[in-house]
Amino acid sequence: MRIVRSIAELREARAALGALAFVPTMGNLHAGHVSLVALARTRAPRVAVSIFVNRLQFAPSEDFERYPRTFEDDCARLRAAGVDLLFAPDETVLYPQPQTYIVQPPAIAEELEGAFRPRFFHGVATVVLKLFNCVQPQVAAFGMKDYQQLMIVRNMTAQFDLPIEILAGETVREPDGLAMSSRNNYLSAAERAEAPRLHAQLAMVRDAIRGGVRDVEALARGAAQALHGAGWTPDYVSVRRRADLAVASDADGPGRLVVLGAAKLGATRLIDNLEI
Ligand code: PAJ
Repeated sequence: MRIVRSIAELREARAALGALAFVPTMGNLHAGHVSLVALARTRAPRVAVSIFVNRLQFAPSEDFERYPRTFEDDCARLRAAGVDLLFAPDETVLYPQPQTYIVQPPAIAEELEGAFRPRFFHGVATVVLKLFNCVQPQVAAFGMKDYQQLMIVRNMTAQFDLPIEILAGETVREPDGLAMSSRNNYLSAAERAEAPRLHAQLAMVRDAIRGGVRDVEALARGAAQALHGAGWTPDYVSVRRRADLAVASDADGPGRLVVLGAAKLGATRLIDNLEI
């Protein structure tokens, strides 16, 4: 695996690789990221990964400084996964000047995650566009764990006519259902034992809708209340249409819906979702 730090080195290394699949990450890699590498490799002979903790997508109050940085372990995982090229720029490479040209995502970016993390998707869309321009892949893989991010990246890629196919990877979970996430490392032992409740509540909403219940708003409210009752601070639980994440109506049935949730457990904010 070749590791490059500058855009000039990246361009030179990339030119030798031909058709390339790309997995952007912020590091602290786990089995979820590795599954995206495996998915990417089914679609191109070579795979590139980036590791860059993107300050632009963190609010001042968020955990940018304490976001886990585990570069050596990450490299070992990527080597074992057969990655060809790792782009690991520092901030002076991607943001040599303050980034004043910003991708303005559509209104859906102000809902769900965007309602609780203002300008989060401006930061995500901007860095993903930059990374796409640097790496110039034919294919890029994103996790369904971050469902709204996947949709925004996919629509941005289409609207800017980028010649990149976006692949969606299934969420990789711990045996008890908790979606793998770098933020799980922040949980205390007691919080870790409680953490699968988010997935469990989303699964109850999914199963009720599959079972024929149609009052989706009441179901979502019930799930948020159950989390609250168990000591969480829920930001949202919401049933949306998969295609555009518009609010689901009671007429929408299974097959077209997704339930998304975000809630704080102590100081740690967890997100998850399930297609219905
Ligand atoms: P990061 O949180 O490192 O995630 C990188 C990719 O891994 C994303 O596409 C995310 O959806 C996926 N992922 C995370 N947990 C997963 C899991 N349990 N199962 C499957 N896939 C999972 O998302 C970002 O970084 C950043 O916003 C980024 C796109 C790199 C832009 O900075």
